[in-house]
Amino acid sequence: MLIRIPRGWEIKESQVTPEAVFLNRRALVAGALAAGSGIAAPAFAQAKDEDPSAGLYPLKRNEAFQVDRPLTDEATASTYNNFYEFGSHKQIWRAAQKLPIRPWTVRIDGLVEKPFEIAIDDLLKRMPLEERHYRFRCVEAWSMTVPWGGFPMKALVELARPLSAAKYVAMDTFHNPEIASGQKASWYPWPYREGVTIEEAANELTFLVTGVYGKPARKQYGAPLRLALPWKYGFKSVKSIVRFEFTDKRPVSFWEKLQPAEYGFWANVNPQVSHPRWSQATEEVIGTGKRVPTLLFNGYGEFVAKLYDGIKGEKLFV
Ligand code: MTE
Repeated sequence: MLIRIPRGWEIKESQVTPEAVFLNRRALVAGALAAGSGIAAPAFAQAKDEDPSAGLYPLKRNEAFQVDRPLTDEATASTYNNFYEFGSHKQIWRAAQKLPIRPWTVRIDGLVEKPFEIAIDDLLKRMPLEERHYRFRCVEAWSMTVPWGGFPMKALVELARPLSAAKYVAMDTFHNPEIASGQKASWYPWPYREGVTIEEAANELTFLVTGVYGKPARKQYGAPLRLALPWKYGFKSVKSIVRFEFTDKRPVSFWEKLQPAEYGFWANVNPQVSHPRWSQATEEVIGTGKRVPTLLFNGYGEFVAKLYDGIKGEKLFV
């Protein structure tokens, strides 16, 4: 995520320019196409029978969430990912295939009536699954448009039965350095953690993702369960979640621990507030070669702006 880390950080600041991102992306797409033409299966060509939840897809689309641009093509989106557990570059899709996603247990604990664990396939049976097309804006100033499958986080909050003292939900990714070699890098505060307020968790836009492009999510997207918060920068959308902790303390996220001056709790998309090292005014739409203006709340203000009324003295948007 192009963060400055004192030890071991190999990406130069010059490489964060949108041009570099674009060129890198072109090389990746070319590589993926080459791989697809030969023996190797392309990253997006998932056999439907690989995943026990495959029969649930495709899901009916919820048309309430419209997008103003075409979906990013699957080959591009599946080969340009951030998932530091598998490497600090965008080509992690091959390494991520090592992640075992069954059995997969999700723990719900903290300030809830009764903590419990639930197997992912049991959770899927209990949740109202649907497809939603969302725009996705990374803090690195690129964006995609993705057809997610999954369920509103509100349904999970209801299942959890939080106590009234719970003000936040923290989410943790798995921790297994044997299969995720990025987790051997000791300067990162593993496991990856993110958090939202209870009001954000219950907002109608907040979506827990289990599928992408009409099938179960590929591992590089954070299978079998990840978050999608389309009005916040992508780093808030934590992947491969194993735990939801309801708490009265504001969670300190993975990136916030590393670089509090750059990655704050709120992280709402805002073109007026630059990242300390680059502008957020425009974004590269991956797959098109075009830059477009970035919108406040990534264009989702009608759903979420009210959540931030009256919040003062906070670093809202970084
Ligand atoms: N979740 C985990 N566990 N590890 C990560 O490195 N990267 C974040 C977010 N969730 C990340 C993560 C960042 S910086 C972004 S931009 C998005 O995932 C990328 O999601 P995508 O690969 O589906 O585009």
